[in-house]
Amino acid sequence: MIDDIPTHRPFEAFQSFVLDCKLYWTRQMFPELRSRYEEAKSGAGSEPKSAAEVETLMRDDTTYQFFGWYERHLQRMKYSGRHGLALHYGQHRDKLVSELNVSIPDRLIQIDPEFQQPEYYTSIDIHQHPGGVWSDEIAGYVYERGAKSTAPMLDKATSLHHRLTAEALSRAGKPVKRVVDLGCGFGGSSRPFYQDNPDIEVVGVELSEPCVRLAARRAAEEQARNVVFRQADAADTGLEEGQADIVTSTMVLHEMPPKHIEKLLKESHRLLSPGGLSIHLDFLTGDQPFKTFVHYGHSKRNNEPFMPPLNEMDIVAAHKAAGFDDVEIVPFEEMPGTLSEDFGYWRFPWTLIVARKAA
Ligand SMILES: C[S@@+](CC[C@H](N)C(=O)[O-])C[C@H]1O[C@@H](n2cnc3c(N)ncnc32)[C@H](O)[C@@H]1O
Repeated sequence: MIDDIPTHRPFEAFQSFVLDCKLYWTRQMFPELRSRYEEAKSGAGSEPKSAAEVETLMRDDTTYQFFGWYERHLQRMKYSGRHGLALHYGQHRDKLVSELNVSIPDRLIQIDPEFQQPEYYTSIDIHQHPGGVWSDEIAGYVYERGAKSTAPMLDKATSLHHRLTAEALSRAGKPVKRVVDLGCGFGGSSRPFYQDNPDIEVVGVELSEPCVRLAARRAAEEQARNVVFRQADAADTGLEEGQADIVTSTMVLHEMPPKHIEKLLKESHRLLSPGGLSIHLDFLTGDQPFKTFVHYGHSKRNNEPFMPPLNEMDIVAAHKAAGFDDVEIVPFEEMPGTLSEDFGYWRFPWTLIVARKAA
């Protein structure tokens, strides 16, 4: 990948400081929070049954207060601090914009000049990213860099995507000619499909024009010939029906309200060929009050308001209403060892939601 902006020492120092703080939060503070919770629980003599009951138990705990404060403000500094991503990339705006506007072959990109964003999408600065990932023409670059410290335990931003790609292809159960990746962002989730499988045609669908442009630019750098990035709503892609053997999404469902998820599932069913696979990777905590408490706190602190509604919706019923029969919801091991009982660090509650269109 081409270096887009010159290395700037104060920026690199600031961002690696933020990343190290996030690692400390993940590896030290989270286990401490959990042991404080275990102590509080045995002190109270009863087991909380919901995230709200855990919150009541932990509200005055200083470790919990610091844990939450630290998470919120690290994220804010990452984007909006003195050497935050928004300001820093903004200083290189002209260069970045010109790079997005040249050398992207038409076959890699489909932009809709009349496109109207859904209201839920524009109403919040998701991830505390100023203006969200869509409103600034260089937002794709800012988001691409920001994603490197979202889950700091992942060694490479792409390893998670490689694991999902392998899982999807192994579950496909038939030759895969075309994959539709809904909410593909700057292309990270589409890349292992198109890069490692030149016989598969990949369509990345994304609301954000800056992200679509960056995804296409990266594909052009890689000289990819089997992918196109399309600006469209995942719930209404405008793609031909029955064309996909796999419809997938990664970290997208939790970014939209349940009504929109229902439409996205109907659209997934429409896009799939008979026997095609629907596979969505997202965050679900199941019936675990402490994990849910941490996850709902993250939702508030990271400006991601649709995490709790996704967690609470009846996903099986929504799939059935969309036409799918068998629905499987299983934990996903985003890197080796994370599903082991001994894994004690903070992690997202990665979960696969898999269904198949009748053959
Ligand atoms: C957390 S990012 C994940 C990006 C990518 N799938 C990945 O794994 O790197 C979620 C993406 O979903 C996009 N998104 C949200 N709602 C969408 C919708 N209705 N249709 C298409 N994309 C959507 C956002 O713009 C954002 O780029």
